[in-house]
Amino acid sequence: MTTIEHGTSTGVSFALTDEQKALRELAREFAANEIRPVEHEHDVDMRHPAEIVAKAHAVGLMNLHVPEEYGGPGLSCFDGMLVGEELYWGCSGIGTSITANGLGAGPVVLFGSDEQKARWLAPLIESPILCSFGLSEPGAGSDVASMKTTAVRDGDDYVLNGSKTFITNAGYADWTVVFAKTDSKAGSKGMSAFIVPMDATGVTIEQHLDKMGQRATDTSAFALQDVRVPVENRIGEEGDGFKIAMATLDFTRPGTAVGAVGVARAAYEHSVAYARERVTFDMPIAMHQGVNFMIADMATEVEASRLLCWQAAWMLDEGLGRGATLYSSFAKRFAADTAMKVTTDAVQVFGGYGYMKEYPVEKLMRDAKLFQIYEGTSQIQRLVIAKEIFLPRAD
Ligand code: CAA
Repeated sequence: MTTIEHGTSTGVSFALTDEQKALRELAREFAANEIRPVEHEHDVDMRHPAEIVAKAHAVGLMNLHVPEEYGGPGLSCFDGMLVGEELYWGCSGIGTSITANGLGAGPVVLFGSDEQKARWLAPLIESPILCSFGLSEPGAGSDVASMKTTAVRDGDDYVLNGSKTFITNAGYADWTVVFAKTDSKAGSKGMSAFIVPMDATGVTIEQHLDKMGQRATDTSAFALQDVRVPVENRIGEEGDGFKIAMATLDFTRPGTAVGAVGVARAAYEHSVAYARERVTFDMPIAMHQGVNFMIADMATEVEASRLLCWQAAWMLDEGLGRGATLYSSFAKRFAADTAMKVTTDAVQVFGGYGYMKEYPVEKLMRDAKLFQIYEGTSQIQRLVIAKEIFLPRAD
């Protein structure tokens, strides 16, 4: 399947620049040469891919959105689309390990002070260290505002108590942006965001969670017990936490969505190859309409998902901010559900072999499921979309 990339005379263009093509090629080769050959063993062993993260860092495929003044490449959200699709095509578990700094560092990139950016972003460029996004809790996943973790001001410090779970890369992170209640009576307006070093006294990794798919990515639970952080680690003002979390997710959801495109594309490609070679009733199964219609739908839906991701990223790069919320959720909802459908159909194309671990589509189907859950479930994306349609905002 070729991607549309030619210019048009209408003022709207899908043409990539030479730099963008080179960036995508770099990511594509990295995925083919460094990720694909080891994806199976990382999946089986649930092994954190530290050495692949280090290689991705060395070739410049990490921390894409860290601004140039802090040593980063300062790439656009759109450029991130080109890298993300390829890395996740290689393996979404390893891809998530590489790209999750985008979410972890997102609040600092988008809302940090100059001092915070210099202190926390510059080291991400110097060495392959990880950071994470500490939002979800055992009792507060979709309903963020109901979180229980607290941060109480004590002189020049805040003291944090609570627990976080389902946090990508937390078990290997140097620091985490932890969201906590500074005013438990103020609902979403009572949340604040803090940069917490993971070696601070009172931070304990409780569990590296065992998952169905994307098993190469660390997903951990951690506790905070009387953890002290200085006031200068608070991002924004007290009470800004909810909006910081939401705006960060607006920015990162297209990147996660395009990861789902990578997984769906991988499943589609495996299906085409298998349908050409597998013979039943004296002909390749590609000749059976029951199979080739499924594959035609896969191709169409992969393309449609990618276009939604590109549009959401373009809107974010145009600085549309809150205006991009709707499109971020369109992209995340559609691409995640598409990846689930395409990978499920790919297992069907492979028949009995598709259900076997020996063939690649079984892993892709397990991996795809997570896109409908993390960074906001498909139901939460519909809730955001419905709110944007029916509840007009003042801002
Ligand atoms: N940007 C800025 N502000 C926003 C916003 C946005 N995108 N969305 C909402 N707000 C503002 C609203 O305007 C409102 O402000 P006012 O009170 O001043 O009008 C305020 O925030 C509260 O908004 P809502 O009333 O819409 O809030 P809500 O409590 O109803 O919840 C929700 C909204 C969309 C359901 C939200 O809770 C949500 O997104 N939940 C899903 C969370 C999520 O994605 N979790 C994934 C965790 S990260 C992860 O998975 C990664 C990992 O590491 C595994």
